[in-house]
Amino acid sequence: MKNSKYVIGNWKTNPATKAQAMELAQFLSTLNGQTKTVQVGCTPSLVHLDAVSGLLSKTDILVGCQDICAFTADVGAYTGDVSAAQLVDTGAQFVLVGHSERRSYYGESTTLLTAKIQQALHADLTVVFCIGETKEQYTAAQTLTVLEEQLAILSSIEVPASKLIIAYEPVWAIGTGLTPTVDEVVNTHRHIQSVLTNMGLLGVSVLYGGSVNASNAGQFAQFDEIGGALVGGASLKADSFAQIIEAFA
Ligand code: PGA
Repeated sequence: MKNSKYVIGNWKTNPATKAQAMELAQFLSTLNGQTKTVQVGCTPSLVHLDAVSGLLSKTDILVGCQDICAFTADVGAYTGDVSAAQLVDTGAQFVLVGHSERRSYYGESTTLLTAKIQQALHADLTVVFCIGETKEQYTAAQTLTVLEEQLAILSSIEVPASKLIIAYEPVWAIGTGLTPTVDEVVNTHRHIQSVLTNMGLLGVSVLYGGSVNASNAGQFAQFDEIGGALVGGASLKADSFAQIIEAFA
């Protein structure tokens, strides 16, 4: 994945039908070659991954997945799970790990996240590692400490910087319409970079995520510290996603 800003749509459990997913992918395909300074990407649901990836295979749009099997990178008896090898075979180039919805709804622990990162790296997938504090932690001014704790798992894994992207997503900003101020995000990203530097991880992009939309993307895009955006809701409509990409371009 080249070194530029990233705007990645996290489709989560959307849309309801393959036809709608293909419509979104069709729109993304029209951006092929248009976005020299921005790498555009999307993470379709697993059931749509193969079709979306097929449609986008001859474009510069990145396709990733939202989850990965922690127990094998290859094949095995893990009912309901999808391995790194299978994801790569569909054309996936990256995987989200540590999203707050996975941490909270599925109780994903540090041990599990570590294993998922290892399996992804085994298959040469780029890892978009998501970190973020809760509202309580934000209010108690614990954000930086919480992020340091979440980032600490990277020191136990040999992650090449070239295979890592960080997405800073305050839990309280996801899907709520609320965001920290741009100054807060910039300061937080500087802190994340210094933690990464201390681990020997240089040149890693740090994206912001949490209620990024067509109206606020421009503020975030102005700062070098903000390496792009991970976009949920606003990535599901072609016009708002296009405006966010434009803001970062
Ligand atoms: P949101 O989600 O843009 O809908 O807030 C972002 C995310 O969860 O990655």
